Amino acid sequence: MTVRIETERLILRPFGPEDVEDHIAMMQDKKTAEFLTTDGVPRPYGDEWRFAACYVGHWAIRGYGFFTVVEKETGDWIGRVGPWQPGGWPGLECGWSIVSSRWGKGYAPEAAIAAIRWTFEKFPDLARIISVIDPDNVNSQAVARKIGEEKTDEVFEFWGHRLDVWASDREPWLARFA
Ligand SMILES: CC(C)(COP(=O)(O)OP(=O)(O)OC[C@H]1O[C@@H](n2cnc3c(N)ncnc32)[C@H](O)[C@@H]1OP(=O)(O)O)[C@@H](O)C(=O)NCCC(=O)NCCS
Repeated sequence: MTVRIETERLILRPFGPEDVEDHIAMMQDKKTAEFLTTDGVPRPYGDEWRFAACYVGHWAIRGYGFFTVVEKETGDWIGRVGPWQPGGWPGLECGWSIVSSRWGKGYAPEAAIAAIRWTFEKFPDLARIISVIDPDNVNSQAVARKIGEEKTDEVFEFWGHRLDVWASDREPWLARFA
């Protein structure tokens, strides 16, 4: 059954093959790429194609993954938000990226709260949800705070970067957002 989540302003649906080119276009924006690529600049088209294939494939391998986020008012593709845990990751993460033309509208937290609610429902034994965030990515840290995550002492080293692990435990999160 296809998952479809609706919030006040957004529609979330599984990231699929039809989202690959929109995602690549988002990642060609250097504002978006700043904290998502190893050197802080957009990756070549072919590299981004392979990353997008990973997001599509995650659904096939794990049965869940990033959601494509669509703005209800316009029908526009505006980003990807949701749970994933690729091999070697430090936990089940909720990640977020929104096209820069829509930053500052609270879309990432709105989508993340809906996605995390869905994730905790799908996995009743999941004790916590995490987000791995670059220490300089203040915009992402603001999202993490808005959705009830706190910075932990844990650090995840990935491709030469030290990323902070933010987290929220299941019970306090559900008490606040369920
Ligand atoms: C992080 C991100 C998803 C936030 O999405 P969003 O929908 O704009 O989220 P919010 O509207 O809640 O804004 C979050 C913060 O971004 C900053 N911000 C808002 N509008 C902005 C704008 N136009 N330009 C720059 N920063 C802005 C503010 O600090 C805001 O926090 P505040 O509301 O407490 O002032 C978005 O900035 C993004 O996609 N960044 C690039 C990808 C990325 O780094 N993803 C996270 C990887 S861990």
